[in-house]
Amino acid sequence: MSRRLLSLIVPWTFLLAFVVGASLWFFLVPAHAPVAPVAVAAEPVEAFIVTPDGHTVLGVWQDPLANVPPPPPLPKIVALTFDDGPHPTHTPVLLEILKRHQVPATFFVLGSRVEQYPALARQIVTSGHQIGNHTWDHADLSSLDTDTIKADLDRTALAVAVATGAVPQVMRPPYGVVTTELQQAAATPLVLWSIDPKDWRDREADTVVQRVEAEIKPGSVILLHDIYGSSVEATERIILSLKAQGYTFVTVDQLFGFDQAPELRIAGVPYYLQTFDDLR
Ligand code: NI
Repeated sequence: MSRRLLSLIVPWTFLLAFVVGASLWFFLVPAHAPVAPVAVAAEPVEAFIVTPDGHTVLGVWQDPLANVPPPPPLPKIVALTFDDGPHPTHTPVLLEILKRHQVPATFFVLGSRVEQYPALARQIVTSGHQIGNHTWDHADLSSLDTDTIKADLDRTALAVAVATGAVPQVMRPPYGVVTTELQQAAATPLVLWSIDPKDWRDREADTVVQRVEAEIKPGSVILLHDIYGSSVEATERIILSLKAQGYTFVTVDQLFGFDQAPELRIAGVPYYLQTFDDLR
């Protein structure tokens, strides 16, 4: 074949391959397939559906959960969780309140504070509460690499183990930041929350109690901080209010069933409970 012919055929072959490839990509990549609208429909309905690239098309849509029978309702169990401690003044008061009301809780502690207050960390564990890892010093993990995060979590777990004899089996990322690097570094499940009454910002027990009461439902994971007196004060009122509504308090391990079925405890996976109604 002559060089002249080749110099004609090669670029045209590339161009043809590009056109075919681009067309296949456009029609096959799911981003160009219609997406379901937000509304819920039990029966198939005709609906205008907006595709991600802005086209409006008429399509038939049905609620994917419409014919799925709802599971039995969750039992009325909730988990109280306390982050950022232990605190020399407020944690002992909180432990006394939890003891008085026979309520187990989960404490996501900072390694630096455990090193500073090992006796308080030990008291958390000997009182029957669960202890979790909340990093060494509340680092924002969003820009850290896997090795740095792993070193931080290991250092914290070691401090907890030395102080209490217990190795944390759950981890809560500061600010709820979950990254791929954290998921790769974590040796335990990542436990998030479903109710954040913003007790760290609004230091008034009344406000905190009202926010929890407004959002409470079976399976709730309540985020509080045992480094504020107002949060400790709110806790006792939350306990009284929820007990009066028939709720039982459990640890995170009990809530997610980790204590009964260890295979549910998957490292690096974020956990919080969603009910069937939340999915609809
Ligand atoms: Ni925190």
